[in-house]
Amino acid sequence: MRILSGIQPSGALHLGNYFAMMKRMIDYQENHELFCFVVNYHALTSVYDSNFLRRQTFEAICDFLALGIDPEKAHFYVQSDIPEVTELTWLLNNVTPQGLLERGHSYKDKKAKGIPANHGLFAYPVLMAADILLYGANLVPVGKDQKQHVEMTRDIAIKFNQTYGETFVIPEVEIPKEIATIPGLDGQKMSKSYGNTIEIFADKNTLKKKVMSIVTDSTPVEEPKNPKTCNLFAIYSLFLDKEGKKELKERYLKPGLRYGDVKKELLEVIWNYFEPYRDKREYYVNNKDEVHDIMQMGAKKTRAVGMEFLTKARHNVGLDY
Ligand code: TRP
Repeated sequence: MRILSGIQPSGALHLGNYFAMMKRMIDYQENHELFCFVVNYHALTSVYDSNFLRRQTFEAICDFLALGIDPEKAHFYVQSDIPEVTELTWLLNNVTPQGLLERGHSYKDKKAKGIPANHGLFAYPVLMAADILLYGANLVPVGKDQKQHVEMTRDIAIKFNQTYGETFVIPEVEIPKEIATIPGLDGQKMSKSYGNTIEIFADKNTLKKKVMSIVTDSTPVEEPKNPKTCNLFAIYSLFLDKEGKKELKERYLKPGLRYGDVKKELLEVIWNYFEPYRDKREYYVNNKDEVHDIMQMGAKKTRAVGMEFLTKARHNVGLDY
């Protein structure tokens, strides 16, 4: 089975990125054909600072490598190193109904906020469809917010196949229930755009500040707490197995629990969880040439697969005169 997903380098990667996507992908690479990429073309719809984009793209690559993406096993690449994806986008544009894109959440949200929506933002889902269809991906592991985009990809692929004959694989979306939405510091979905993130590789002081600022309710110490509605509990749970969750729940239900103590504990848990990866990340950050070589190899391997689907699509629409 081919499994594909990507992350935008529009800021430092955080726990939401890690649990909703990165960790799942790293686990999948053992037994599946994995396509994992840093989505810098899409980031252009929101990032207009070239140095920032360059830096974040490089750091996202280092994060993935440090956390365990194996460039030998997986197809690990940067979106813009595969120019075929923009060509495929053009082919897909011509079977994509305007109305389908007008129903897009991110486009509608921006418009509703009064942000001038440009063509890049409007056409964002078509580029995402090309990302997925170019390699014949069967499964796309994402967070809940990307569900609609994968559904649009399916619609576009079906329409293309109907119009030009069987060309693309129709992908399935995969959103496990327990990680559908990872909450941030304030309980809303953890997202760069809400400013409520906990970064994977933050230094300890920053991490401490963030964890201490997780919003909790004002239940007095001597009363039992409600784990079901507690944001701190939800974030802590990401790091716990079934048994650990049960224990934490029992502590919540007994009087006397202090949120401040739980936060201090969580700080150490997060710090220790990512500890084994910190040196490796440091190594990659300081060895740019090696990172570039790895990404060149990834692009080469990936383009070979993409070329098969693109050649077929070019033929089926009649570009090969
Ligand atoms: N839109 C996705 C996000 O912001 C990123 C993305 C682009 C993606 N292309 C993709 C995810 C293809 C999965 C598959 O999170």
